Amino acid sequence: MQNITIETITKEYDVHMGSNIIQEALSLYKEQLLSADQIVIIADRTVANLHINKLVTPLQTITNGRIKVYEVPPGESCKTIETFYDCHSFLLNENCSRKSVLFAFGGGACGDLTGFVASTFMRGIPFYQIPTTILAHDSAVGGKTAINHSQGKNMIGSFYQPEAVFYDISLLSTLPENEVRSGMAEVIKHALISNQQWVNELFEVQDFSTLTTSNLQEYLCKGIVVKAEIVKGDEFEHGSRKFLNFGHTYGHAIENTIGYGHITHGEAVMIGMVYALMLSEELTELESGFARKFFLHALKLGYTFDAILTKTYEELFEVMIRDKKASHGDLHFVLLNKVGDPISKIISKEQGHKMDKQLKNWVREESI
Ligand SMILES: NC(=O)c1ccc[n+]([C@@H]2O[C@H](COP(=O)([O-])OP(=O)(O)OC[C@H]3O[C@@H](n4cnc5c(N)ncnc54)[C@H](O)[C@@H]3O)[C@@H](O)[C@H]2O)c1
Ligand SMILES: [Zn+2]
Repeated sequence: MQNITIETITKEYDVHMGSNIIQEALSLYKEQLLSADQIVIIADRTVANLHINKLVTPLQTITNGRIKVYEVPPGESCKTIETFYDCHSFLLNENCSRKSVLFAFGGGACGDLTGFVASTFMRGIPFYQIPTTILAHDSAVGGKTAINHSQGKNMIGSFYQPEAVFYDISLLSTLPENEVRSGMAEVIKHALISNQQWVNELFEVQDFSTLTTSNLQEYLCKGIVVKAEIVKGDEFEHGSRKFLNFGHTYGHAIENTIGYGHITHGEAVMIGMVYALMLSEELTELESGFARKFFLHALKLGYTFDAILTKTYEELFEVMIRDKKASHGDLHFVLLNKVGDPISKIISKEQGHKMDKQLKNWVREESI
C-alpha cells in the first residue's frame, strides 16, 4: 500500500493507495471508527450495485457491524439540493449525531456531495473518501465539496477536508471507456502543468486499454502529488491553486452548453486543454506545433471534439464570462509558458474568438 500525505492549513491526512487495500487502510483508523456512534456510507447507486461489499464487509469486521448505506443517484445527478436534503433526512432518521462518521463511495460527484453533507450535518462531522473513478484522484484531494445550483455547477459548497482517502485501484476495472478518458484527461492535465518528462511518457500511451494497474497507480500517485503540492501552498485558491483549472475555462463552457451528461467532465477539459495550448502558442513562449501534436494525440486516444461545432463562440463566451473564476468582465485563462510552467493571463474576447475559429477548423479538417 502506497501512502501520500496531504498537508493543508486546516488538516493533514493520508491517501492510501493500491489494489484491494480497503481492509488494511481501514484498520489504521480503527480507534476513530470504533468511537463513532453511527457509520453511514453514502454510495453512488451504480457503484454500490457493483462493489458495496468491498467496503461494507471490512467495515463490519472492524466495527462489529453498525454500518448503514444510503444510495444516491449515479454520477452528477446526485449533486442536487434535493439529494443533499435527503441525505440529511436519512442521517437524522438514523439518529446520527456529531459523533457519527460518513464514507463517500463513488466518483467525484458522490465525493463532492458527501463532503458537503459532512461539512454541514450538525455543523460538521468527519468523513472518509473512497474514490471509485480515475478522475476522483483529483476530486478526492484538496477539500473542495459542492452541489449544483440551477444557475451553475458547484455553486453551493465549502472547503472541508476528509479524514483520509482510501484509493482501491481494483474498483476502477468496471469503469466505462468514456469515464476512463474523462479521468485520464485530468491525469494529463496534472502532467502538463508540472513535468515535461511525464508528458513525454504519456505521449507514448496510444490506447488506454493497454494501461496496466501498475501504470495507472503510478499516474494517479503522481497526479495526487502534483495536486497536493499546489493545495499545500494555496488551500483556498487565492493564487497558484488556479493552475489546476488549466483547460477548465473553455472546458466548463463546453460542458455547460452541451449539457451535463452528454459529455464527461474530463472529455470537455481535454477540448479546453487543446484550446488553452493554442492560446499559449499565440501568447506565451510555448513551442510552436505543440498544441497540434497534442490535439492529434488526443484524437488517437479516442477523445472527440465535434461537440464544439454545434456551439457558437458567443454561446461559449457568455458562459466563460459568468464563470466564478472570471472577474470584472475579463477572461482569466491558465496558459503554459512551457510544459510544467503554468501562468495566468487575461484574454480579450477577440483573442478567444480567433482560437475558437482555429480549433473548429482543425476539428472540421479531421472529420472529413
Ligand atoms: N472537488 C473537486 O476538487 C473536484 C475536482 C474535479 C472534479 N470534481 C467533480 O467530480 C465530478 C465528476 O466526477 P467523476 O468524473 O469521478 O464522475 P462521477 O462521479 O460523475 O461518475 C461518473 C459515472 O461513473 C460511474 N462510476 C463511478 N465509479 C464507477 C466504477 N468503479 N465502475 C463503474 N461505474 C462507475 C458513476 O455511477 C457515474 O455514472 C463532477 O461533479 C466534478 O465537478 C470535483
Ligand atoms: Zn476538472
